[in-house]
Amino acid sequence: MEKPAVTLNNIKKSYRTGLRMKRKVAVEDLSLDVTRGDIFGLLGPNGAGKTTTIKVLLGIVFPDEGNGSLLGCPLGDRKAHERLGFLPEQPYFYNFLTAEKGLVLYGKFFGLEHRLLAKRTPELLDLVGLRQDSHLTLDKYSKGMLQRFGIAQALLNDPDLVIMDEPSSGLDPLGQKEVRDILLQLRERGKTIFLSSHQLSEVETICSSVSIVNMGRTVKQGRLDDLLAVRGMTRIIFKGEDPAALDALIPVASDVEQSDGRTVVDVETDVTFRALETAHGLGMEMISATPLRLSLEELFLETIRETAG
Ligand SMILES: Nc1ncnc2c1ncn2[C@@H]1O[C@H](COP(=O)(O)OP(=O)(O)OP(=O)(O)O)[C@@H](O)[C@H]1O
Ligand SMILES: [Mg+2]
Repeated sequence: MEKPAVTLNNIKKSYRTGLRMKRKVAVEDLSLDVTRGDIFGLLGPNGAGKTTTIKVLLGIVFPDEGNGSLLGCPLGDRKAHERLGFLPEQPYFYNFLTAEKGLVLYGKFFGLEHRLLAKRTPELLDLVGLRQDSHLTLDKYSKGMLQRFGIAQALLNDPDLVIMDEPSSGLDPLGQKEVRDILLQLRERGKTIFLSSHQLSEVETICSSVSIVNMGRTVKQGRLDDLLAVRGMTRIIFKGEDPAALDALIPVASDVEQSDGRTVVDVETDVTFRALETAHGLGMEMISATPLRLSLEELFLETIRETAG
């Protein structure tokens, strides 16, 4: 089996804070796996330990306990760092530079040769849609443009794994969509993306696997499709809000709701046919019948409530 892009096993990290240097636990017991080629989402409420986890991955802080691997190398191995790209939570760039000059400067920090940079800079500016504005200094950029510049800077070394701490935070829906499209393009190019996010609908659209962390612990993780599927349940949607249908379907269904001109019926999958027959007898028109799925928001809120102190 192929080696995963990232593993973390039972990571614990605490900080000493205040005058008395009291220990504050930021990450208590965190484990995760990211498959190569995936877009992986690290989710959790404020203060759950996401940024600390990313810092552990990048070798910015060392865990007190636990271990892990990055691109097949142990945590902290330089060889893996050369194949990493990183977009921090609140990036700061020299804003007197133009996007083009900024990319060249950051590329030099990476030790990239001038010839390579001359080729890669315009390619990256195209990828993030900043070619037209590449002559403007960064202080004239909107937040969305700066975030896209940040993504370009994270890709300078053509990394295999891109780690992004809240890539869409503070962006309007258009800006979020632009970032999302860039991430999907990166996945097409075979890159693995590890992101933390509070934008659940965005995560639901682009991530193939997620971990939910709360109070420094992994509380749920897996393929998004598996986590959201409600096994053995089917949702049937019919046109109309006939009260007679409600009475007839309640004995068959686990849940029936009527709103917005529709009747939504959740049934155990093996009684789907019975529910359809009942509805057919009443002359109801079916719109769809699909495996029942939670929304990521429902899963997230349910998971956090279940695991709250
Ligand atoms: N350098 C530090 N010193 C002391 N405590 C810290 C430090 N960094 C983080 N913490 C604490 O660790 C906990 C986890 O913080 P972290 O920044 O990892 O959370 P997060 O999940 O990224 O939150 P957010 O969604 O708000 O960005 C918080 O309680 C925070 O106060
Ligand atoms: Mg954070």
